[in-house]
Amino acid sequence: MGKIAVYPGSFDPITNGHCDIIRRGLRLFDKVIVAIAVNGTKSPLFTIEERLEMLRESLKDMPGVEVDTFDGLLVDFVVKRQADAILRGLRAVSDFEYEFQMALMNRKLNKKIQTVFLMTGLRWIYISSSIIKEAARFGGDTSDMAPDIVCKRLRQKFGVPEP
Ligand code: PNS
Repeated sequence: MGKIAVYPGSFDPITNGHCDIIRRGLRLFDKVIVAIAVNGTKSPLFTIEERLEMLRESLKDMPGVEVDTFDGLLVDFVVKRQADAILRGLRAVSDFEYEFQMALMNRKLNKKIQTVFLMTGLRWIYISSSIIKEAARFGGDTSDMAPDIVCKRLRQKFGVPEP
């Protein structure tokens, strides 16, 4: 069996930055399982079903990607899916503290699971799901920041007319 990574997140919604990490993760791993955390602490804009639909559509041209959801501890999901590593993206130094804390906690919970970090591509360094939602809420153009399906669903959510 090849190497498998779990790329976990809220994906509320998926951005071009996420897609970039997944695409580059596929050069290191035979399979990347993109997993939405069902019990996330943030209150999401999109339902799990909406987020799954956007992930599937955005990643349909990437062989080796699987989309799933998980409830409870990430390390338990990684074991269940017989994966080898957790994949996470880092944008700026500001991401580091939270990511470092999470990686150490996950290692404490299961020392066999490694966390692998990839630096986000320069083009996407300023992008986050939150900032895209903020722009879209007031009718801003997000077409260079997120997949088409995401931009469309954001317009529908906020009642912004199609361009
Ligand atoms: O996209 P996000 O919101 O930064 O993703 C955070 C996520 C979902 C990866 C993280 O909150 C998580 O793994 N949640 C599941 C519970 C868990 O195992 N937490 C880490 C150890 S306490």
